[in-house]
Formats: sequence, C-alpha cells, structure tokens
Amino acid sequence: MADTRNDLAKAKRTKLCTLLNERLRDSIKLGLCAKQAHWNVKGENFIALHKLFDEVYGEVEDYVDNIAERITALGGIADGSVGALAKSEIPDHPVNKSNWKAHVTALSDELAAYGKLVRKDIDTTDELGDKGTADLFTGISRGVDKYLWFVESHLQD
Ligand SMILES: [Fe+2]
Repeated sequence: MADTRNDLAKAKRTKLCTLLNERLRDSIKLGLCAKQAHWNVKGENFIALHKLFDEVYGEVEDYVDNIAERITALGGIADGSVGALAKSEIPDHPVNKSNWKAHVTALSDELAAYGKLVRKDIDTTDELGDKGTADLFTGISRGVDKYLWFVESHLQD
C-alpha cells in the first residue's frame, strides 16, 4: 500500500483494496463471458442478442476501469493478472455452445452471481467508512440489475 494524503486509515484502505481487487477480477471475467456470448450466439433473436451481449461487455468494461482506478486512488495496486482472474467466483461461460438459450441462461447466471457479490460489497465498504467505494458499488449494482433484466427477460414470459 502506498502512503497517501487520503485520510482513510491504511488498515482500512488495505481491506478495501483487497475487496476491490476481488471484484476487479470478477468484473474482468464477467466481461469475457459477455464477449464469449457475443461471438458465438446463434439462432432466434441472433442480431438482438449479439448486440445486447456486446452492450453488456461495454457496461462491464466501465466497472473494470472504475474499480481498478478506485484501488489506485486508495493507494493499492490493481491486479488484473490471469492468475487473479483464475480465482474468480463467476461461473465459467460455456465455450462449446452456440444455442441462444444456452448463452442467455449462462450469462444470466453470471450476471446474477456478480450482482450478488456487489450488493454485499455496498454494505461491507460502507461499514469500513468508505462512502465513495460504497457509492461506486451501488451504481454498479444498479447497472448489473438492469442488464440481468435485459438478458434474463428472454427466458421469461
Ligand atoms: Fe464484436
């Protein structure tokens, strides 16, 4: 942890950066899942889903950058390494499927898993006295809820 004039205590900044790095790796993985779906989806609603999955990727890319820069703003090091990514709790997106329903189902599961983690992060970071990070996670949570709705709606009637 770097020394900084930021008044949050170093012990708190360390905890915050650990948590933020966990969600950074999950965000990178979620973005890769969306791209995997964007590239390989076929069938009914092809063009709508192809475009929607890329929109999810674009949204998640913003989360990646905002989380990484929050880490460095707090004096930490953003870890977007492949090794970190391998520890992600987000499920693996199927690599050998093209069926639209398989991609919609998998991405819904991935968005939901990510959304659950982020919702918990809002309270954890608030309890650590960092409203700025809690606010970042609140915005992400709202965005993920919206994209889960957009994707999951294809399975509902
Ligand atoms: Fe593309």
